[in-house]
Amino acid sequence: MDDIPANPDAVIAAERALANAFSPHAPINQARFFHGRRELVREVVDTVNTAGLHAVIYGERGVGKTSLANMIGEYLGGDTSVSRVICSQGDAFETVIRRALSAIKLAMQVPKLGFAAGTSSREFSLWDALPDPAELAADEAASLVAGLPFHLVIILDEFDRLPKSETVAFADFIKALSDRTANTTVVLVGVAEDINSLLASHASVERCLRQIHLPRMSEVELGEIIDNGLAEAGFTMESPKPRGRILAVSQGFPHYTHLLAQYAGRSALDKNRRVIDEMDVVTGMVRAVDRADQSTRDLYHRAVTGSRKDHLWREVVTACALAASDERGYFSSRDIQDALAELLNRPANQQAFTYHLAKLISPDHGPLLERIGAARRFRYRFVNPLMRPFILMKAINDGLLPSD
Ligand SMILES: Nc1ncnc2c1ncn2[C@@H]1O[C@H](COP(=O)(O)OP(=O)(O)OP(=O)(O)O)[C@@H](O)[C@H]1O
Ligand SMILES: [Mg+2]
Repeated sequence: MDDIPANPDAVIAAERALANAFSPHAPINQARFFHGRRELVREVVDTVNTAGLHAVIYGERGVGKTSLANMIGEYLGGDTSVSRVICSQGDAFETVIRRALSAIKLAMQVPKLGFAAGTSSREFSLWDALPDPAELAADEAASLVAGLPFHLVIILDEFDRLPKSETVAFADFIKALSDRTANTTVVLVGVAEDINSLLASHASVERCLRQIHLPRMSEVELGEIIDNGLAEAGFTMESPKPRGRILAVSQGFPHYTHLLAQYAGRSALDKNRRVIDEMDVVTGMVRAVDRADQSTRDLYHRAVTGSRKDHLWREVVTACALAASDERGYFSSRDIQDALAELLNRPANQQAFTYHLAKLISPDHGPLLERIGAARRFRYRFVNPLMRPFILMKAINDGLLPSD
């Protein structure tokens, strides 16, 4: 019953079901595919529904910020319009607001042309309604939207990519909206450790801005992604082990959970099965590493290629990925030492990798890591935390780390 008949239609259908159930490369935009994070969804929706309050959703790269912001539209009623803008480096306040307002279409009754009697309906965008769109100040933009007869939510995603100097105008805009108790809510979304690095002059808006930090996903939450996705696609796991492997490697990043569950499903499918076993997860990891984007593979290569040939580079890098870390992702050289000893199956001393650490924070080795603190009490973390799962998969594929 678990076998799929080797008929091409059934295989294509199963392949399609896996592709629909898992989305490693796209944010979630339907509530039924969004898992975990229940309290956070409530917090965001409550904030958006509270007059005068705006939100900033921030966290590490890839933890699910855009997906959470997408739930706003799902949970709010029909009389709310959501306008979502993806900011970029070349943007300014004016260009961002232009895109946000251009997406909002309004219908207006205008007299019919010529001698015809009556009116006809004409559609125009909120942007067209601005008197002089070329020079838009924060206050003007706020007074325009303050008069809207419906609730408007403006989501500004990738806000961290804007030049810092531009963010001052957004703080002014939010402040002006709050002062007018406008029926418009601004939601800023971006990669940041704290709001200081996201919004200049945020002190002036602190009282009207709810800060929502998105941590990595817990194993329980990631488990929901696997269980629901597999059920949706009509697949199961042979034992809890393959599931545990995917969770361990994901390290809190849902992208890898989607990716590995999907690839493991495909591996089972290649053997005409709908039951995933441990080997399918291992096969999935090989595929995931092979298909990882070029920049990830290049960074790994730079990190482990040292002047001292074969001198524990891969081992030290793997130990960093295994090291116990705090909630901000930092670990100490003691944590690395413990992980390295376990990896090598023998005691490791810190001198053995001091040289590597000094190099791993320099551009010729990535930089793979960044460092804070004073000498002897340095703490390290990955510049791109999504490297951690990649390094673990690579180590498993290369036989450096057992797959369990
Ligand atoms: N709550 C969730 N349930 C299921 N899958 C999720 C959830 N949140 C995120 N994902 C998945 O995780 C991946 C990353 O999500 P998303 O793009 O929302 O993250 P992000 O923090 O916005 O990333 P970036 O920092 O690159 O903008 C996507 O594959 C998405 O489908
Ligand atoms: Mg995003």
